Amino acid sequence: RRVAILVSGGGSNMEALLASMEGDHPGEAALVLSNNPDAGGLRRAAARGVPTIAIDHRPFGKDRKAFEDVLHATLEDHRIDIVCLAGFMRVLGSSFVERWRDRMLNIHPSLLPKYTGLHTHERAIAAGDEVHGCSVHVVIPELDAGPVLGQASLSIQSTDTPDSLAARVLVLEHKLYPLVLRRFLDGKTDRVDL
Ligand code: GRF
Repeated sequence: RRVAILVSGGGSNMEALLASMEGDHPGEAALVLSNNPDAGGLRRAAARGVPTIAIDHRPFGKDRKAFEDVLHATLEDHRIDIVCLAGFMRVLGSSFVERWRDRMLNIHPSLLPKYTGLHTHERAIAAGDEVHGCSVHVVIPELDAGPVLGQASLSIQSTDTPDSLAARVLVLEHKLYPLVLRRFLDGKTDRVDL
């Protein structure tokens, strides 16, 4: 199946997904797309020979739907079957999400349903949580709320800062997302917990 990965930043999760799809795999990395023309992920994808496209969201101003219509048309033009959001920092509207229902995954740096939204590591530390981690879920219109396909967890250390915790969670993300994508493409929907 043809997989598109959407990024906004450095694309370390994208890199892990691309690496996992090289060789025998049910998915093919057909496109890396970013809303940020300067996203490091675009350069990393191009270095791997993966087609890239930037659709800068800023010229669309408040017209989120116009941006998402171009996004959707671009994915259709590339005959994309599955969308992986990987550090993609635009909230997608319900009409776009409905068009990609059950075909779009996202990785979120918390043990959902805890800490939807931003600043998840800071919030886990502030709450005095002992464990934290990341989740891959199917995207539904409600933010960070779709069925969880997999989670990876770790213990928060007393010495952890939001940055040190984020770095340790990111390592788990790079293990979890490729595993969940492969299972998803193989039609497995039972959860995996690392
Ligand atoms: C990270 O905070 C990660 O937890 C979240 O998006 C951010 C950037 O990830 N998924 P990446 O390095 O661009 O994949």
